[in-house]
Amino acid sequence: MLELYEQVLEIEQRLIPTGLHVFGRVPEGRGRADLLRMVASFDRPESGVRSLPTLIADQMETSATTEGGSPEFEARLRHEEKVDALTREAVGRFLEEGTDSAARWLEAEAHVAAAESRPVLDLLAQVCDHLQENCELDSFARALRGEYIEPGPGADIVQNPSVLPTGRNTHAVNPYAVPSSLAFERAERVVNLLLARHLDEQGRYPRALALVLWGLDNIKTGGEGVAQALWLLGVRPLRDAMNRVTDVEPIPLERLGRPRIDVVMTVSGIFRDLFAATTLLLDRAVRCVAELDEPAELNFVRRNVLAQSEADGCSFDEARLRVFSNAPGSYGTNVNFLVSDSRWEGEDTLGDLFVTRKCFAYGRDSAGRALEGREARAAMGRALSRVEATYQNIDSFEIGITDVDHYFEYLGGVSKAVEKFAEARPAIYLSDSLSRESKVRTLTETVRLETRAKTLNPKWYEGMLRHGFRGVAEIETRVTNTFGWSATADAVDGWVYDEVAQTYVLDEVMLRRLSELNPHSARALVGRLLEAEGRGYWPADGATVGRLRDAYADLEDRLEGVA
Ligand code: BEZ
Ligand code: MG
Repeated sequence: MLELYEQVLEIEQRLIPTGLHVFGRVPEGRGRADLLRMVASFDRPESGVRSLPTLIADQMETSATTEGGSPEFEARLRHEEKVDALTREAVGRFLEEGTDSAARWLEAEAHVAAAESRPVLDLLAQVCDHLQENCELDSFARALRGEYIEPGPGADIVQNPSVLPTGRNTHAVNPYAVPSSLAFERAERVVNLLLARHLDEQGRYPRALALVLWGLDNIKTGGEGVAQALWLLGVRPLRDAMNRVTDVEPIPLERLGRPRIDVVMTVSGIFRDLFAATTLLLDRAVRCVAELDEPAELNFVRRNVLAQSEADGCSFDEARLRVFSNAPGSYGTNVNFLVSDSRWEGEDTLGDLFVTRKCFAYGRDSAGRALEGREARAAMGRALSRVEATYQNIDSFEIGITDVDHYFEYLGGVSKAVEKFAEARPAIYLSDSLSRESKVRTLTETVRLETRAKTLNPKWYEGMLRHGFRGVAEIETRVTNTFGWSATADAVDGWVYDEVAQTYVLDEVMLRRLSELNPHSARALVGRLLEAEGRGYWPADGATVGRLRDAYADLEDRLEGVA
């Protein structure tokens, strides 16, 4: 019962975007309060800011005992709820009456001294000021006139409030700063959670893991994904005299307390372009681990590389290729296009396309020559054949795995490819490093969470519908992206499609709204549900299928102007 309650709380507390960003418009009302609450929920040691929930929790009596049930669990839930309520109220006071009043309230109600709450409240005041200074339209017009636009960092507002004010010329990061010390520290916890989860469910560590790395994500997090790859391999970054990450060194096995995990990395074209030095570093890390003189049962990289070169008679150099991307100048897997256009027959096609697009190796050979994207289909197949789990880090509040087609094209695509080469379905995991407490979930759990928190949440879809034509297109896109997880990983429960059909098609009022605002997307949505049923991903009953077919036919007529 309490676990159920905890899950409900997780869905309730999940931050979701309620509508699209309107260029030049500043968030107001509840949207602004929610944003500030999230900003206030992170400790920012680099600027001496402790989060509001931490400050409040520190002052609260946590050892409260309860009777019966599971006292510790219950006490913890109560505690979290209380912290959340006090945080909400404090942010509300801040918005209504300003910093001083919020500080006094925190002192009186939560026993947080004013001197303690000052840094986080000052940060909120600064965020508010900067939000007000929205110069997006003005900068856009100035850019069109060829004028100078002041630069600013590109990131998530919650993770890095200094992206404000918006409307500046977004710049990325120095690739040699990746991974940052903070990212490396945070990554250890996530990797431990990931491996503990796998160990718990499968009874052993994965002998190899396929990892997806994107460019923008690693910019936003200072390289958390890169750091996770390094932790899995069991190496730490080394910085040169200019503080640039240029090499790695092994972390001793005693410190690691577990085997080094083999990782097959698929990096996006954007990552390859932005992080050329990091791409080489990752390859170097694999070589370094493969060359360590350690027992095979504690060094899966070495074990796999030796086994591969023996079995296939290939060179050590060839057997240790682990960093793959597109051919130079090419981007993406195209798996998403195949799925959204319904132009595929067997699921194998999707995994094959992934490998065709992504089998280009990066790094250096043993003579130090750069590979520069040499086609290496056999090497990729060989590396994937030992993979038992696939994984990607999610780092954005705004973009989840069903918001865009890129998660299923990458993580779904690689999982499908593993299924073929390893002849077994991998376990698929995602971590979200965006909450204070990072979490690792299976793909199926993540699809369920996003379905509940967004797709079926009136707060989400009404927010979208306020955008009219575009909003309906967003709803349809989300359904197609959910379907993408059926096609690539069979990770969508039947109830998801049942509820989507119920909410958007079988509810006549809703269907009418969608059809009037955007009949093209409404038809595509109904068509996608029928496709899910037709391809065997959704055991829908005959009556439901009949009603979907009727709705589809009506929309066709409407679009042809016959209705
Ligand atoms: C990237 O940042 O690497 C990326 C962005 C969008 C889609 C795929 C990859
Ligand atoms: Mg795109």
